[in-house]
Amino acid sequence: MGNPCGPLAAQVLICCALMLVVSHQVAPAPSPPAPVTRRSFTWDVEYIMWAPDCQQSVMIGINGKFPGPTITANAGDLIRVEVTNSLHTEGLVIHWHGIKQIGTPWADGTASISQCPINSGENFTYEFVADKPGTFFYHGHFGMQRAAGLYGSLIVNGMDRQKEPFAGEYNGELSMLLSDWYHENVYAQSAGLDGKDKHWQWVGEPQTILINGRGQFGCSLGITRDRRACDRRKKDALCQEGDKSERCELIRRSECGPFCEGSQCSPVVFDVEPGKTYRLRIASTTSLSALNVQIQGHKLTVVEADGNFVEPFVVDDIDIYSGESYSVLLKADQRPSSYWISVGVRGRRPKTQPALAILKYTNSKPDSWPAGMPPETPAWDNVTRSKEFTYRIKAREKTARPPTTVDRRLTMLNTQNMFKGHIKWAINHVTLSLPATPYLGAYFYGIEAIAFDSSTESPDTYDRTYDIQKPPDGQAPAAKVPTTVSDRVFKIAHGAVVDVVLQNANALEAGVSESHPWHLHGHDFWVLGYGDGVYEHGRDSKALNTESPPLRNTVVLFPHGWTVLRYVADNPGVWAFHCHIEPHLHLGMGVIFAEGMEKLRELNVPREAITCGEAKTATLPLAPAMAPPPPP
Ligand code: C2O
Ligand code: CU
Repeated sequence: MGNPCGPLAAQVLICCALMLVVSHQVAPAPSPPAPVTRRSFTWDVEYIMWAPDCQQSVMIGINGKFPGPTITANAGDLIRVEVTNSLHTEGLVIHWHGIKQIGTPWADGTASISQCPINSGENFTYEFVADKPGTFFYHGHFGMQRAAGLYGSLIVNGMDRQKEPFAGEYNGELSMLLSDWYHENVYAQSAGLDGKDKHWQWVGEPQTILINGRGQFGCSLGITRDRRACDRRKKDALCQEGDKSERCELIRRSECGPFCEGSQCSPVVFDVEPGKTYRLRIASTTSLSALNVQIQGHKLTVVEADGNFVEPFVVDDIDIYSGESYSVLLKADQRPSSYWISVGVRGRRPKTQPALAILKYTNSKPDSWPAGMPPETPAWDNVTRSKEFTYRIKAREKTARPPTTVDRRLTMLNTQNMFKGHIKWAINHVTLSLPATPYLGAYFYGIEAIAFDSSTESPDTYDRTYDIQKPPDGQAPAAKVPTTVSDRVFKIAHGAVVDVVLQNANALEAGVSESHPWHLHGHDFWVLGYGDGVYEHGRDSKALNTESPPLRNTVVLFPHGWTVLRYVADNPGVWAFHCHIEPHLHLGMGVIFAEGMEKLRELNVPREAITCGEAKTATLPLAPAMAPPPPP
């Protein structure tokens, strides 16, 4: 369940950052920008029988379908989604990944953090402004509901399309939402992860990678690079009545396999016109897998990362971690025909076949498979190559630069630990557990003291005697810090400039350190730099990139390495910052920023969002802790 440390890669980072601790002028709480258009949706979330990879499973669907409907909006639009929970046995929430929720932190859709789960049979209305253009998605954020299929695309166009950078360079858009799929249901997955001692069970590798919710388990498409035994001729992939082969047994329970009309698992076909250029939007909401995308015979020009334009660069393939999104420009400049799109696993030894889709030029032979084998994605353990791709991402010229003075620096050591017979992930030796009362409600009603451990803050650094190259039990006695489980937070003052140093370390197994894609809610951050080994401020801060750091909402932390990011705490709310790998978050790999809570009373928090846990049962009469400001 890990990947060994890769060779060191030299990185070129420019300029130096002088980080002085200066206090900042506190700006007033932001108010949401005036809405232009309202876009309303009514969603019914329910269990559905679906065959995303030709094998039928129970999934969480929206309005009877998987994946959920794509939301398309313009920047500045007010998005309103009325969600009814028709799951009979569990609550739910929906998070709008990449949307900042400026002025609406209660609509962030994080259970125990920004709201109470919507109870079975009840409904809740999310209302928020699409604050900026970009390629985003939404997903469940309670338990492991994302891994159960509760997700979909969210695409925000510029208010004035033509004024967007690169707008003149493409003729059309294509969109690809990537995910991974397990045959074991999420209840079994989470029960395994919660197990003690020998009952602890890792989720393992996913069975299938999905492209827009479609994949083909094993050989069911009959085409793979790795399994020569799979015959790729169409007739061999069809199953006759009574065929007892393993592959046909698998397809049996799906309606009809990948090749019939209306199949839920037929490969996605992207139609393009010869000579035209397309903006291909790619987002990843995988539970576990880091992926690599490539298109047979075509180059890709990266132009957007997480809703921010980047300095364009040309590649053969892209790496994408869970929580990330990209736009690439794709020119249909090859001989009019069909071409394979391969999506393979990176960073972990794959046990999952690459996912396949088809790029089809109009007027090319109908229904023919692309010629040749699908392109082979790079070796899973070539970390140097992953670093090279990631380090190339630079902000586009006109992107806002980060402030140069920093108010607070947090260093977060990422470790895998044992805690009372359970395997956990911890940040500075603390593993996150979420309280019954959403933090936002606790602050709103002034009941922090009974709602969670508000006696102290989370530790903001770790003891440097800890050796990141060694497993926790290989540490020197002085560095053996016991792991604790806690729901403490970081309290961040409104307007503060915060630097976070993510420091990776060795996992429980010697010689193993994993990549973790860290995602921040409520903000974009600047990625100031990456490095191998231990981050040493005196030495490494000089090489950070403050001239052209890309703005993002998700960033990878490489094995045995560090990543530094900076954000401005200008958006009052309680925000999660966590590894986007679903089972890692489940095992405690995250922290909570309670940001600008002194401004919370200025926000209009709907009571139904936060009335659960102590906020429901407290004997004291509940009222907002501070009176709201008088009407103007
Ligand atoms: Cu897409 Cu908290 O995550
Ligand atoms: Cu992780």
